[in-house]
Amino acid sequence: MCGIIGIVGNQPVAMRLVDALKRLEYRGYDSAGIATLVDNQIARSRAEGKLVNLENRLAAEPLSGAIGIGHTRWATHGAPTERNAHPHATEQVAIVHNGIIENFAELRTELEAEGVKFQSDTDTETVAQLVARNIRSGDAPVEAVRKVLGRLRGAFALAFLFTGENEMLVAARRGSPLAIGYGEGEMFLGSDAIALAPFTDKISYLEDGDWAVLTRDSVTVYDEGNHPVTRVVQQSSGAAYVVNKGNYRHFMEKEVYEQPEVISRTLAHYLDFSSSSIRTDVNNIDWSKINRMAMSACGTAYYAATIGKYWMERYARLPVEIDIASEFRYREMPLSTDTLALFVSQSGETADTLASLRYCRSQGLPIAAVVNVRESTIARESDIVLPTLAGPEIGVASTKAFTCQLSVLASLALSAAKARGTITPAEEKELVDQLGNLSGVLHEALKLAPKVEAICRDLMNVKDVLYLGRGTSYPLALEGALKLKEISYIHAEGYAAGELKHGPIALIDETMPVIVIAPFDRLYEKTVSNMQEVAARGGRIILITDKEGAKHANVDAHSVLIMPDVPEFISPLVYALPIQMLAYYTAVFMGTDVDQPRNLAKSVTVE
Ligand code: G6P
Repeated sequence: MCGIIGIVGNQPVAMRLVDALKRLEYRGYDSAGIATLVDNQIARSRAEGKLVNLENRLAAEPLSGAIGIGHTRWATHGAPTERNAHPHATEQVAIVHNGIIENFAELRTELEAEGVKFQSDTDTETVAQLVARNIRSGDAPVEAVRKVLGRLRGAFALAFLFTGENEMLVAARRGSPLAIGYGEGEMFLGSDAIALAPFTDKISYLEDGDWAVLTRDSVTVYDEGNHPVTRVVQQSSGAAYVVNKGNYRHFMEKEVYEQPEVISRTLAHYLDFSSSSIRTDVNNIDWSKINRMAMSACGTAYYAATIGKYWMERYARLPVEIDIASEFRYREMPLSTDTLALFVSQSGETADTLASLRYCRSQGLPIAAVVNVRESTIARESDIVLPTLAGPEIGVASTKAFTCQLSVLASLALSAAKARGTITPAEEKELVDQLGNLSGVLHEALKLAPKVEAICRDLMNVKDVLYLGRGTSYPLALEGALKLKEISYIHAEGYAAGELKHGPIALIDETMPVIVIAPFDRLYEKTVSNMQEVAARGGRIILITDKEGAKHANVDAHSVLIMPDVPEFISPLVYALPIQMLAYYTAVFMGTDVDQPRNLAKSVTVE
């Protein structure tokens, strides 16, 4: 988490740094800061809270300088105050950091024993103080950094700015991502290509353990063993993306409404709608060698993967193990090489997902990844990349990335089913056509917005919410509860409807809304029985179903949201929309910060 940026430029950099930080704010927004060189000396401006506070401060007290570094923070060590905001600086050096220095306590003790006085509570400042100490003892800046890198444990991306070095920045990466941008007479570094998009589309990615020296005209990259290496300069697509809200109030709203288009775009990559068939050439998976799958992911991506498991097992008859990545990485699960390891991640940078991938790599498994950012570390370290074509997702609460992940996973399940002979050609045609019809159905579902809003006027006043579902509606219930928690801060729990009687039913009273996701499918009757258990105890039911479902519900629901009729296979893609809207409008009514909810960040590159 945290976004970093650096510019060795030929014109004032302060506002350019801020501009880049705007594009990185999704990585954290607890505080922000920049440092430049003014008359060869380090000058800093930092502010607590959102980037706009830093912008206001810079408007009142501008910083000059043509070289600088910037940071937007998601706090790990030390409260989100100005004192703990990056850049951290000594007289000799200023640094910005993304990640965690795991051995910072021991390094700090060592420095304090030598009389070094710390100005912050962060792990980052130890790095600045170590480099400063080496410079004071006579090392040139580059040498000082090189020596310090060897002492650091943990995952990090770092950028260094030095007193008296008007034309040089140093960058280093271990674990956390870092890209270098090549300009005309100026060079850039940043956490991702989107941050660098306004400046250049020529990008190279540092590999794990790399560090680099940037001047206005050159970039020299060294690997972990300090040998000079070449990293390919690629044309980045980041510049193609326009990151603005258009006419929408929030990025999240815009992203919810983009779904019919981006889902269609993603599906068309994997399916040929003109012949109602699966494109067999888009993945190189040799299904004849695969007897099981191991999936892992975090957050919303984990719920998408869980729905994928239901599809893979049902249609391709392939057993799937699924784990939250932070558990998987330490579970030391015995794995055989006939297992396809599949990772799902919007950002492609989530630390736990990446660590799980590396564990599977060490076990010799074939590795596939469903990712939204094609240049990400997870994509680059996978054998098979299955892109979601959602475009940049800015709202911290994932919406379109989730449904695009579902689109890829549905297509993948069909591809496996076809290769394994578990669906007939007629079934292939039928299921592909169902996906092909999605766009229209999604537009219909979005028209329910006013009805959802009416429900949310009520929901905004409650403290707790229960979400229930069965089959693929169960992971969707979990996702619904997560969405609501994330942006409205209402406590919500998702449960498998059948589990209700094993505990959560004790919570039911007339104040407790229970949102039931129940399309009229083969599991409908079972879910309805559970819903009746809620009704019998006075619970306030909000039922999301279709016309038939509403007809057969037989309970006095508080509200019923009638969805378009959809076949069971594609229902999670359609029912995802009302649960996103329920969270969105509730949060809007409550006046929370929808796109940047408190304490969260979009890209989680720490454990
Ligand atoms: C964070 C985000 C979630 C996301 C999760 C996994 O918690 O706020 O929206 O689902 O990370 O991120 P990934 O980029 O791996 O999908």
